[in-house]
Amino acid sequence: MSYVSSRLAAVKPSASMAASQAAKALRAKGVDVIDLGLGEPDFPTPMHIIDAAHFAAKAGQTLYTGAAGTPEVREAVASKFRRENGLDYTADDIVVANGAKQIIFNALMATLEAGDEAILPAPYFVSYPEMVKLLGGTPVLVECPETTGFRLAPDVLEKAITARTKWLFLNMPGNPSGAVYSEADLKALGAVLARHPQVLVLSDEIYEHILFDGREFVSFGKACPELKDRTLIVNGVAKSYAMTGWRVGYAAGPAPLLKAMSTIQSQSCTSVCSIAQAATVAALNGPQGEVARFRQAFEARRDLVVVGIRKINGLTLSPPEGAFYAYIGCASLIGRKTPKGVVLEDDAAVANYLLNEGRVASVPGVAYGLSPYFRISTATSEEVLTEAIARINGAVAQVE
Ligand SMILES: Cc1ncc(COP(=O)(O)O)c(C=O)c1O
Repeated sequence: MSYVSSRLAAVKPSASMAASQAAKALRAKGVDVIDLGLGEPDFPTPMHIIDAAHFAAKAGQTLYTGAAGTPEVREAVASKFRRENGLDYTADDIVVANGAKQIIFNALMATLEAGDEAILPAPYFVSYPEMVKLLGGTPVLVECPETTGFRLAPDVLEKAITARTKWLFLNMPGNPSGAVYSEADLKALGAVLARHPQVLVLSDEIYEHILFDGREFVSFGKACPELKDRTLIVNGVAKSYAMTGWRVGYAAGPAPLLKAMSTIQSQSCTSVCSIAQAATVAALNGPQGEVARFRQAFEARRDLVVVGIRKINGLTLSPPEGAFYAYIGCASLIGRKTPKGVVLEDDAAVANYLLNEGRVASVPGVAYGLSPYFRISTATSEEVLTEAIARINGAVAQVE
């Protein structure tokens, strides 16, 4: 007998979680591994947010909430969109879910018919194609090479759209590349989309606060207001407020889509944890100083990694414009031999070699749809990053 449905058969587990598991397995055997696989801020959640959670629990906010979220959290999200992004949404236009991931899952479940296509500019967040497949859709992978800044160009988008296209996914700053779209870039994509009214846009803006070199964030919704009735803005508190484990994501979008997403939520998980929702209100409405401090630390780490990696013969790295990853090019290692005589056939072999010989866990580019690269997370201390770069350097230097 099979325990697994045909729907699940095509779906892979998360590659970044797998890299992290492999690192943990080596550590359990006593090997000293640096895990740069998973992307989550290493800072503690700011104390005023934790205090708000305590307060909410003690005050009896311990019951189920409405499926779309408490009135307070939806109001806090709507005012965040107004204040930070210049977007005109009310609390009725907002839903919260257990992470941005669940928002995306619910949106796809609400909309995809079998065979509907979702355009995924590659490199993409590892979960996008797997969710699309799980929900009966067809991921359409569109390579966005480093030469175009890892950004989707309007003519490439135009060619990828068909009568079956249901969604275009955008993610900025991007995981894993750190690529950011300017307002002009977004308007140019919007002009293409205006000609294809069947296409919805999912703009994943979860890294919006982690932007470098003085860049200003422009939401897709702000750049293309004419597409408001087919745009879902996805965001969450995980990355900006060091709240990955609290599991709160949120979205703004057209009412019929949000209603469908709420129905799914009401029949699957009922609601997001009431205490985590109270913490989210404190995060969004409270002081924002920590967000700026985290951003600065991420920029210093980005600088350290760019300088360190670029010194390594055989690796390349375009400076990431945001987020907390480095998507490192390893084309010149492919086809070469490790000291044990193993040919590095692809970036999965490179990541494997770096794990076993360099003792650094990374995620191969194949998981993000654009090779040959590997991704490291830079969301760790400068000391750990310095040591990781030295180890990567030592391992790469031994490749013949
Ligand atoms: C682009 C992108 N979207 C969404 C998520 C998940 O966010 P959440 O923790 O809110 O589910 C991640 C996490 O790595 C991400 O990189």
